[in-house]
Amino acid sequence: MNFQEFYQNEYEPFETYSLNLIKDRSGTVIEEAMKYSLEAGGKRLRPLLLLAVIKAFDKEIKVGYPVAAALEYIHTYSLIHDDLPAMDDDDMRRGKPTNHIQFSESTAILAGDALLTYAFEVITSSEIEPSKQIRLIRELAVTSGYEGMIGGQQADMDGENASLTIEELESIHARKTGELIRYAMFAGGVIADCESSERVLLENIAKKIGIAYQIRDDILDVVGDANELGKATGADSKLGKSTYPALLGLKKAKERLQTELDTAKKSVDQIKQLTPTFDARLLHSFIDTLSMDV
Ligand code: IPE
Ligand code: IPE
Ligand code: MG
Ligand code: MG
Ligand code: MG
Repeated sequence: MNFQEFYQNEYEPFETYSLNLIKDRSGTVIEEAMKYSLEAGGKRLRPLLLLAVIKAFDKEIKVGYPVAAALEYIHTYSLIHDDLPAMDDDDMRRGKPTNHIQFSESTAILAGDALLTYAFEVITSSEIEPSKQIRLIRELAVTSGYEGMIGGQQADMDGENASLTIEELESIHARKTGELIRYAMFAGGVIADCESSERVLLENIAKKIGIAYQIRDDILDVVGDANELGKATGADSKLGKSTYPALLGLKKAKERLQTELDTAKKSVDQIKQLTPTFDARLLHSFIDTLSMDV
């Protein structure tokens, strides 16, 4: 199976599941604000990756729905807060006014908090055995916390108007974007009961994809189309952000992006060597969608 087939034939029920988890509740302003940002769409990279890993091991993807939903809730919360005036101060997200513009700053802060905490509640509603749930919850807490995504966001803020080395920038990317993407593949592997050697490979692949994905985001901030992206472009240079294109130039940044993706694809083949039934093609084609040439 390739990624397009997976997306067309398997993804939709998850999307409905994920949105209904909040829709079915009481309908107050906080829920409206949570739903607003979730329903605005987004590429759903992280839940797709999590579910694609389960699929590649030929396991039932439905078991992973609550964890995939939790991951997208945390990502969406991180975007709501990232857009706040105290942070990147952006007005458009996912093709709509940002949460604080549509509602208010206080509601946007609380909607983000609510998505973050609800994510952990949702994992406990899964059918995954309790000891595995605890492992998934603990790793998600670490991943999204001060050692992971939040630490990366702080370093990103600290890096504004500063001249960073490429290593420092990579460390920011790895945390602010890489960690949630690493979690997607970690969790997919755990849910699919893969061997620990395979999980290590999955996490290595995800780290490459994570760096590549933020380089891509930084490049699109320079050359992308705001309507297509659903968010403003030129935002990074306005804030004096440290980015790959700012440090290396566009051409080298694109090359670096492709190198990360190519290395990731090689590690996919290593999993295939360990488990011959592993659907390497699905992950290869997934990774190809992140290339700047498509
Ligand atoms: C945007 O993430 C911020 C980054 C971490 C690069 P996405 O590009 O995945 O945003 P959505 O989910 O598609 O809106
Ligand atoms: C956001 O990175 C990363 C997180 C929200 C964790 P950016 O600030 O580059 O994301 P965009 O460009 O606003 O989507
Ligand atoms: Mg930011
Ligand atoms: Mg931003
Ligand atoms: Mg960006």
